[in-house]
Amino acid sequence: MSDVHEAVREKYGAIAEAVRSSSSRASGCCGPSPCGCGDPITSNLYSDAETSALPADAVVASLGCGNPTALAALEPGQTVLDLGSGGGIDVLLSAQRVGPAGKVYGLDMTDEMLALARENQHKAGATNVEFLQGTIERIPLPDGSVDVVISNCVINLSSDKDAVLREAFRVLRPGGRFAVSDVVVRGEVPQTIRRSMELWVGCIAGALEESEYVVKLGAAGFVEVDVEPWRVYSVNDAREFLTKSGIDVDAVAAQVEGRIASAFIRARKPAAKSCCGPDCCA
Ligand SMILES: C[S@@+](CC[C@H](N)C(=O)[O-])C[C@H]1O[C@@H](n2cnc3c(N)ncnc32)[C@H](O)[C@@H]1O
Repeated sequence: MSDVHEAVREKYGAIAEAVRSSSSRASGCCGPSPCGCGDPITSNLYSDAETSALPADAVVASLGCGNPTALAALEPGQTVLDLGSGGGIDVLLSAQRVGPAGKVYGLDMTDEMLALARENQHKAGATNVEFLQGTIERIPLPDGSVDVVISNCVINLSSDKDAVLREAFRVLRPGGRFAVSDVVVRGEVPQTIRRSMELWVGCIAGALEESEYVVKLGAAGFVEVDVEPWRVYSVNDAREFLTKSGIDVDAVAAQVEGRIASAFIRARKPAAKSCCGPDCCA
């Protein structure tokens, strides 16, 4: 287990426990840090129609930076995999869309998150859902077994993004889609930020540069790659978070302003080659 895995597990395990232990109280919309009212990254990602149909703890534990279920036109009967499923919000939304003939896997390495997600599954009465323990760098599913890979603010946490993208490609069926929400950086960010473990586990220090994301997806074999930043943060959005991490915000302001964004990332695994003539069947 790497240092990054350990730090991420510790942080997100504590968040899951906090949500679970406060579940008997009316928790409103404020969850534990980093989610909660006014959090510039995690707030206002889902419509009321989506959240009202979910268990409150799945919504409170939402720690994403977008809504990957809105990126992919999920169809009844499909198999979906959510990388780093957390409290299960995107798994449960996807489960409604793929219906009883479909299946949604949530994969997470943090036991406390898996326990929370399974409680939420039970409360939602979702029978077409399975939460798996494991890492996104080594996905515990067979080759070509998934139609759509989704993920919400998790790939930035990995210290081996090439492995994650290779694994996502492997488990997708030919023609399958990758529809992910993630934090990206635009241009260089200061080394003081890159070196902070606290900012790594808070989804910022490990974020890929947007053009690097495109290159890595291509190297993994994906086609039709698109990285679309949709919410660009100002330094004031991140001021409190950066200050808590010991960063002198005013000193780095010019290098951070407008450089951190939430993005939609889309790609496709090429369709299987059809037999088209004497050469390609040989
Ligand atoms: C920022 S939270 C996002 C959770 C969820 N996707 C959401 O939108 O609410 C990150 C989640 O990914 C999990 N995670 C982070 N790195 C992981 C890895 N390498 N393998 C598996 N799970 C991971 C954490 O345990 C945590 O539950």
